[in-house]
Amino acid sequence: MSTTFSTVAQAAPDGPNSPVPWWRNAVIYQVYPRSFADGNGDGTGDLAGVRSRLPYLRTLGIDAIWFTPWYSSPLADGGYDVADYRTVDPAFGSVDEAERLVDEAARLGIRTIIDIVPNHVSDQHEWFRAALAAPQGSPQRQRFWFRSGRGSGGGEPPTNWESSFGGGTWTRTTNPDGSPGEWYLHLFAPEQPDLNWNHPDVRREHEDVLRFWFDRGVAGVRIDSASMPVKDPALPDAGGDPAPGEHPFLDRDELHDIYRSWRAIADSYEEPRVLVGEVWLADPGRFARYLRPDEMHTAFNFDFMTRPWDAGELRASIQSTLDAHRTVGAPATWVLSNHDVTRPATRYGREDSSFGFAARRFGTPTDLATAHRRARAAALLTGALPGSLYVYQGDELGLPEVEDLPLDVLRDPMHFRSGGVDPGRDGCRVPLPWTATGPSFGFGAAGEPWLPQPDGWGAYSVESQERDPASMLSLYRAMLAIRHAEPGLLGDAFEWLAGTGEQTIAFRRGDLICTVHFGPEPVTLPAHTELLLASTDLTGDLLPTDAAVWLRA
Ligand code: GLC
Repeated sequence: MSTTFSTVAQAAPDGPNSPVPWWRNAVIYQVYPRSFADGNGDGTGDLAGVRSRLPYLRTLGIDAIWFTPWYSSPLADGGYDVADYRTVDPAFGSVDEAERLVDEAARLGIRTIIDIVPNHVSDQHEWFRAALAAPQGSPQRQRFWFRSGRGSGGGEPPTNWESSFGGGTWTRTTNPDGSPGEWYLHLFAPEQPDLNWNHPDVRREHEDVLRFWFDRGVAGVRIDSASMPVKDPALPDAGGDPAPGEHPFLDRDELHDIYRSWRAIADSYEEPRVLVGEVWLADPGRFARYLRPDEMHTAFNFDFMTRPWDAGELRASIQSTLDAHRTVGAPATWVLSNHDVTRPATRYGREDSSFGFAARRFGTPTDLATAHRRARAAALLTGALPGSLYVYQGDELGLPEVEDLPLDVLRDPMHFRSGGVDPGRDGCRVPLPWTATGPSFGFGAAGEPWLPQPDGWGAYSVESQERDPASMLSLYRAMLAIRHAEPGLLGDAFEWLAGTGEQTIAFRRGDLICTVHFGPEPVTLPAHTELLLASTDLTGDLLPTDAAVWLRA
């Protein structure tokens, strides 16, 4: 594969002898392939669609794409139920086409990161089908967690664990003679049986899968549910307040050994590959352990993502994030949303603008104008912080969450397993609008998109926003262009600006200042020589509420 990359993305601000690896301050754009662009007109996004839109991504100014799973999958959980890790789902394309995409993106200076799902496979994966077909106690079942039930006739699940998708974590099998059989573990949906990471086949297989994709030019992996794969083999009930590392299935110490071996594989490539963890942990110290120098390179900063639009909350999160990362020398990541959470252009307009899976409900009111304004300011805030920046597809268009999808089109297991209480995650997965008018607003040549787009979707389209210098897309393009050009934004330098008041966040990086104002009354901008970018129109030297600026000191 030919690429135009060098391992070092930019010269470091503190001199040529301390090069900055590309991933330390990359802008990474998340593609949810089903909803990005449909190249063959069947209503489902695909790799051909992504290939046709690479020029758009280049103009946006990103360094890498992270693809949510593109593997063969029955789509019980939007592709996070992988049937075969060495294929691309025919609905999306083929492995050959994925290689072409990786290569074409590389020529435009864009690296490719793919999703690896170690915790579970699809119930259609050949290992699980073999396990179901094999008798109790067979080697095939040992790659998973098969157990007898408790209670009379084994009718009760083996543990009391709760699924983050709602409900229990065990499903009972049926023996060939029709009698009830063993139970198997699934921390997510029943179609996603958990692997047994104490089994050598499981470790070996994932190491081979990493090499399979790294050999095809993939620059790194995003590791799904990275704090969950290892379980306490004694399968104790959950409850109480376990000591760190002793929860039955979360953040167990044995995980680190797995990621160390993955790091060694990643480091064995001429351009070392990169590991990015999906690590949802409340304790910043435990989180940072995944980022020690011989483990993952970065992990998603969900603390920041879940905070409400509030100066004190966000300032505290920035501080604790930077502190935790400093202990291990890893760069932070800044994430406003992804394919699992409510889009900022809706969430920030709610009375409670924090994000929590449990708190998400149908019909929570929002003020879209306020949310949009805040999402613009949030873009400038995250874009100026030290570390890597993730942009979920459509956030650069300011797409709102689609909250009124008809119930009969919803696909997300989170919705069904919550008994319909949780609207689920389909509302942030609606296919993107590319054109102001036309079938599926340019998402595909024909065909109904797999989720319906709202009537007003064309106003958010790339076509509409490209012509409007005040659009969200224009703001993102301008921001990313400055981010790439400003030496002050490349390194780790970061300094709070004092004296700006409780309702304002202000910090300095090199000679660049970012100020975000949350209070109701306008505040005077800090002293500066140049206004580089503003999230809203300014009157004189005043920064109004819910607005952000980038200034030259
Ligand atoms: C991660 C993914 C999510 C998926 C879950 C189970 O949290 O981001 O979409 O449902 O893992 O694989």
